[in-house]
Amino acid sequence: MSRILITSALPYINGIKHLGNLAGSMLPADVYARFKRAQGHDVLYICATDEHGTPAELAAAAAGQDVRTYCDEQHEIQKAAGQAFGLSYDWFGRSSNAPNQRLTQHFAKVLEERGLIEERVDRMIYSVDDARFLPDRYVEGTCPHCGHVGARGDQCDNCGRLLDPTDLIDPYSAVSGSRNLEVRDTRHLYLLQTKLADDIRAWIDSKSDWQPLAKSIAYKHLDEGLIDRGITRDLKWGVPVVGPDGGPRAGMEGKVFYVWFDAPIEYIGATEEWADATGRTWRDWWRTDEGADDVRYVQFMGKDNVAFHTVSFPATILGSGEPWKTVDTLKAFNWLNWYGGKFSTSQKRGVFMDQALELLPADIWRWHLTAYGPEHSDAAFTWEQFQSTTNKDLADVLGNFVNRIVKFAESKFGGVVPDGGEPGPLEIKLEADMRAGIAEATAQFEAMEFRKAAAALRAVWVLGNEYLQEAAPWTAFKTDVERSGVAVRTGLNLVALFARLAAPIMPDTAARIAATVGATDLSWPDADASLLNQLPRGQTVAAAAVLFTKIEDSQVAEWSERFGGADA
Ligand code: 2FM
Ligand code: ZN
Repeated sequence: MSRILITSALPYINGIKHLGNLAGSMLPADVYARFKRAQGHDVLYICATDEHGTPAELAAAAAGQDVRTYCDEQHEIQKAAGQAFGLSYDWFGRSSNAPNQRLTQHFAKVLEERGLIEERVDRMIYSVDDARFLPDRYVEGTCPHCGHVGARGDQCDNCGRLLDPTDLIDPYSAVSGSRNLEVRDTRHLYLLQTKLADDIRAWIDSKSDWQPLAKSIAYKHLDEGLIDRGITRDLKWGVPVVGPDGGPRAGMEGKVFYVWFDAPIEYIGATEEWADATGRTWRDWWRTDEGADDVRYVQFMGKDNVAFHTVSFPATILGSGEPWKTVDTLKAFNWLNWYGGKFSTSQKRGVFMDQALELLPADIWRWHLTAYGPEHSDAAFTWEQFQSTTNKDLADVLGNFVNRIVKFAESKFGGVVPDGGEPGPLEIKLEADMRAGIAEATAQFEAMEFRKAAAALRAVWVLGNEYLQEAAPWTAFKTDVERSGVAVRTGLNLVALFARLAAPIMPDTAARIAATVGATDLSWPDADASLLNQLPRGQTVAAAAVLFTKIEDSQVAEWSERFGGADA
């Protein structure tokens, strides 16, 4: 048994997330956490709301609430949405909680003691009409590197370069659109990333099992040259910047740390919240001098977050010189698009987590977003593909298999697992095929290749259907009841096995499938164990009310109308 720490990128507090956010970090992290728990490992899956920064301030103002109240409410909404989607966080914390504040101030203090932070007087963009300094991403303009119009001041979405807002050509305020901007003096703390570039590169070199997407993004930023980065902001809402004694810092009163400085620290902070709430310890998950050296740490995130996790956050951690656990495997995702374009709330395009569950149970979405997710390239969600794959994979292949065999056992074998008879050549071949299928699914889950893992599961379910087709217990029953009983028993054991295989992706459905054959074991199957003779003979079985209903054309039409689609 090993200890595995899993984090998914922390969702911003401002509003419930859409299916693209879910598919690109929280859901695959959950599937992996469930897979690893099902193998018997000690998993700690941590997430939290990312609550600081200007988006939270502006969203609160738009909602007419003070920012603390707004965040309190939104945190509960996101927590409930995660639960409803079956996201099995061990803890869903808040970056505005006390542990993160303490840790953020601690890292800043240590970095400063090590000569890696210095105060600089900056000339920053002040919006006269908005009466405020504008944080990076609220200044927009033309990218100096690629000429993209509408580049944000922190990063260009077109060429991916990290930017400073003063680099932008023809800048304007994204808050009001005003071009009445001035550059004013303001004092800020800078993290001297230039001094850390060699350490960060050596650290990335040492990461042999990062996927190419993550490594190439990290090297791209290193090759472009790191810049010293301002880690404080002229905002009220955030982790306060303090002096060495913990009190107000002269010349920087009322300033806070930049949200991207404190947010990743909340991975640690949320673990501390979990430990406080459960009476466990957090340091043995995070401090290599206190037991965390045997932890494997896996991070999940969208590709836009990779630079922050491979360069910025490591600069904080490595720069501290303290023995913190760093990420071992980083799994990054591409974008889920809505048809050809982006999800857009204002244009009624795309589905958000709460809305999705008004339409269909979580597991249907979990299957689709895993099996057809934006893993190695961007993926487009369309209602038409969603309908076709869901009906085929879930209703025709998996659901049909389960219902058919369990109903037959009910009608012809008294609703119990038949006794008697010995496996024949078909069952022996099936068992070998199952072993190979499980080995393949296991390898793909281990490699965090989720689309391939889902494809392997689908292939196993297809094999089950092919077996039933060949063994044809309904035909055999007329001439050889014992032979039919062997096939039914084998089929019912397959049902129990399929439930175990489905559990990481579709936990509720897996439990319902298992229940049809009186099973409760949802641990991950070992390909070498005996697979097809696990259910006690004579055990009662009972078909479920429909496992998966087919998505009708009329529903696709209605949903396209409501959420946007091909014709919308
Ligand atoms: O991009 C985002 O949605 C950020 N809120 C992710 C933060 S991840 C971590 F570093 F906190
Ligand atoms: Zn650009």
